Order: sequence, then structure tokens, then C-alpha cells
Amino acid sequence: MKVGILTSGGDCSGLNAVIRSIGLTLMNNVKNVEILGIPEGYGGLIRGESYRLERNDFEGILGLGGTILGTSRQPFKKMTVAEENGTTRLEKMCRNYRKMGLDCLFTLGGAGTHKTAALLCMEGCNVIGLPKTIDNDIFGTDVTFGFQSAVEVATESIDRIYTTAASHRRTMLVEVMGNKAGWLTLHSGIASGADAILLPEIPYEPDELCELIEKRQKDSRSCTIIAIAEGALPKSEVKLKKEERRFVRTERGETTGTQHLAEILQANTGVETRVSVLGYLQRGGTPCAFDRLLSTRLGGFAALQAANGNFGVTVAVNGERIVYNALADIAGKYKYVDPKGKLVRLGRLTGISFGD
Ligand code: F6P
Repeated sequence: MKVGILTSGGDCSGLNAVIRSIGLTLMNNVKNVEILGIPEGYGGLIRGESYRLERNDFEGILGLGGTILGTSRQPFKKMTVAEENGTTRLEKMCRNYRKMGLDCLFTLGGAGTHKTAALLCMEGCNVIGLPKTIDNDIFGTDVTFGFQSAVEVATESIDRIYTTAASHRRTMLVEVMGNKAGWLTLHSGIASGADAILLPEIPYEPDELCELIEKRQKDSRSCTIIAIAEGALPKSEVKLKKEERRFVRTERGETTGTQHLAEILQANTGVETRVSVLGYLQRGGTPCAFDRLLSTRLGGFAALQAANGNFGVTVAVNGERIVYNALADIAGKYKYVDPKGKLVRLGRLTGISFGD
């Protein structure tokens, strides 16, 4: 059996732990298995690059951040567009899949990666997806690997920001990644006891936040901590299309939405307000124990699916169990925070403002 592994899209902690688990499970349980690493995600497959992974390559990588294979972003919408010689990237990938003589391709990636994986399946390639992302927005799985490690980093960062904010009696806006989903902000915001949590799924009203800050001032609270998702929007911008929003923001000479909100809060409350963008710190570094375990479970389960000839699926977490979903059923779908869901309700019960 000959399999290929690639990691695609933004990296996260746990990718190497999954690669290791797939590799070791196959080597220990399947006779005559050959494992190829495909460098830089779909980029490597488009170019037809691969190299053999040996048992030694899986040594010492369980706790290593990033991906030993490298990664790249390859936009889904470009996959079926004809390039030079009239060939599409999809055609190149299928041709190279066959040239490499693969029986199965493991694609470790987020929602975009899964969409392309579903396309490859439709073209007759045997693909098994694995759900990676700090955003936790992949449909059909309770959790993705990489998410919990990012939650740990964001939570510790907000804890640290709290002490400096309290010393200076400031308002702090801590911007958390997550693309259009608020999972990372919601989990780390609750875990760090943020005073307000702003999510893409719950548009905010700046006036509500001003009131919150003023009330906290009146109550002699030392500071206000606001965890804001990078995709959070004020109510006034919700109905705008992406291009219109960009236009409005450029007109206002705005750097980022978070910076703009900070200026409004400072101007209206008189409380010194600062922004801290956590950025790539949330993606880098060693996976937490939860992610090492989850990655090992997902990788092992995916390897067994390959050994059993169960292709065209992506592995997933459903409660206590690792399961699989048809790639065709989940491709193009996302999982967002339910504004009426348990965690948001819990947050409200404990007095967290969602700015709405
Ligand atoms: O999808 C993971 C993620 O880290 C998002 O949270 C973020 O919006 C995006 O990737 C950043 O992408 P890039 O690495 O291309 O800057």
C-alpha cells in the first residue's frame, strides 16, 4: 500500500502529532506500506513533489509545533481554473496522484482543504481528510485538532494582559484569531474571565461597551478586558458586503476594526484604551496534551480507514467517539457559535457582556 500525506492551509499545533500517528499506525499494522510526504500542501501535489517518509521521520515530533511537511494556501476557487496549457490545478493534482502511484492521500487541513479534498474524490482519488484548525469551524466535528492549544495560548495571554491592564486602570481589547468563527474567542474569553466577549456571530453595539466600562469605573473596578474576535462586527456594519465594508473603513482612515473600536471607547469613556493582537502566537508552538492525544486518536483512526479501504471521508469527533463523515457531506459547510448556545448562555449568566 502506498499513501501520501499533506498538510494544507494555515498551520497549527498538532499537525506533526497526526502525521506521526498515521505513519506509525500504518507501519505497525499494514504490511508493505510506503508513506510519501508531499511538501507544502496542495502546492506540492500540483508540482508533483514527494519524498519517502521513514520510521525515523516520526521520531521526536509528537510535541513539535508547525508541520514537518510545510504548508501553503491554495485557494479553492483557483482549483478548476485553466492555467498554462489549458490545464487546471485539479487536473495536475489528479495526474500527480496517479504518477506517484498512491492508493490513498491523507489531507490534513481546514474547511478549504476539505472542499478541495472532496473535488479530488469526485475525480476518483482516494482521499481521507483530517480536521485541522485553530478556528474550530469545520462542520461535522465537535472539535478540530490545534484548537485547544490555541485556546491555552489565548487564555494565558489574556491572563497576562489583565495584570498590566489592572496596574494602569486601562481598557484592553485583546484581538483573537478565528476567521469568521468566534470559538477561540469564546473559549479563551470565558476561561480568562474577560468582561466582554465580541464574536462574529453576535454583532456588537459600541455604546453597550461604553456603558459597561463606565459602570465598571463607577464600581471602582481596576480595568475592563474585552476579548474581541478578529471577525467581530459592529451592528452598523453587519449588512454591508465585504467590499462596502472595506470602502467604509478606508474612508474612515481605519487601520483595523479593533483599533477603530478602541478609539471610540477611549473617546467616549475617557479611559485609556489599548489593543493587543495575539496573532500567530496562537498557531505556533508545542501542542497541549489534549491536542497530542486528540491528534493521535484522529491519525490512528484515519490510518485504519485507509487500511480498510474506506475513502472519501474525513475523520471527526462526536462526543467520546472518533467517527467519520463523507467528505461530500461536509465540504463547503462551516460550524459557527450558536448565539443562543450553552456557552454563550453560561457567559451571560456569569455577567459577561457580548456587546449586543
Ligand atoms: O485559519 C486559521 C487562521 O489562523 C485564522 O484564524 C486567520 O484568520 C488566518 O488563519 C490567518 O491566515 P494567514 O496565515 O494566511 O495570515
